[in-house]
Amino acid sequence: MSLAERVSSCEQCPLHEGRTQTVFARGTGSSGVCFIGEGPGADEDAQGFPFVGKAGQLLDRMIVAMGIERDDVYVCNIVKCRPPNNRKPEPKEAAACRPYLSEQLELVEPKVLVLLGATAVEGLLGLRGGITRLRGKWRLYDGRIPVMPTFHPAYLLRTPAAKREVWTDLQEVLRHLGRPIPSKG
Ligand code: URA
Repeated sequence: MSLAERVSSCEQCPLHEGRTQTVFARGTGSSGVCFIGEGPGADEDAQGFPFVGKAGQLLDRMIVAMGIERDDVYVCNIVKCRPPNNRKPEPKEAAACRPYLSEQLELVEPKVLVLLGATAVEGLLGLRGGITRLRGKWRLYDGRIPVMPTFHPAYLLRTPAAKREVWTDLQEVLRHLGRPIPSKG
């Protein structure tokens, strides 16, 4: 059974009770870049793919601004089922889902991870310092994969001025990959 199939029937935490379907991932990851968010919202729960709502449309624009095709990045979340009322996933829920995320990263072998928001940073790295302090500084996942924390696109929708910091962080990612840095329109 594939990893996605195993996830689709998972009942390891109470979040499975409220889901329409699990939300596994989108994109091939052929660019070497993987974005990790928090968890599915209403649109993702309905469609079965991560970042397909308003925040996802902004994420898509960020990817294109990097000079990368939307489907060449891998996009997934800390938890695969929608938390009720779009609340943050509980640490226990994130921990229950963590083996799936670890397996995803083993299969995709990204060159760099971009963590979107505090929940992703806490869920993957166990760091709690607050995203304003943690963003823009390289970390390591599993002692080997470089990780860049940045603001979540949903935060950018509320605070457009923070897009400048995110663009700085994404330029760091491009530099790390040896990719050209497009001039931002
Ligand atoms: N926000 C997230 O963190 N993940 C999604 O998939 C959608 C919105």
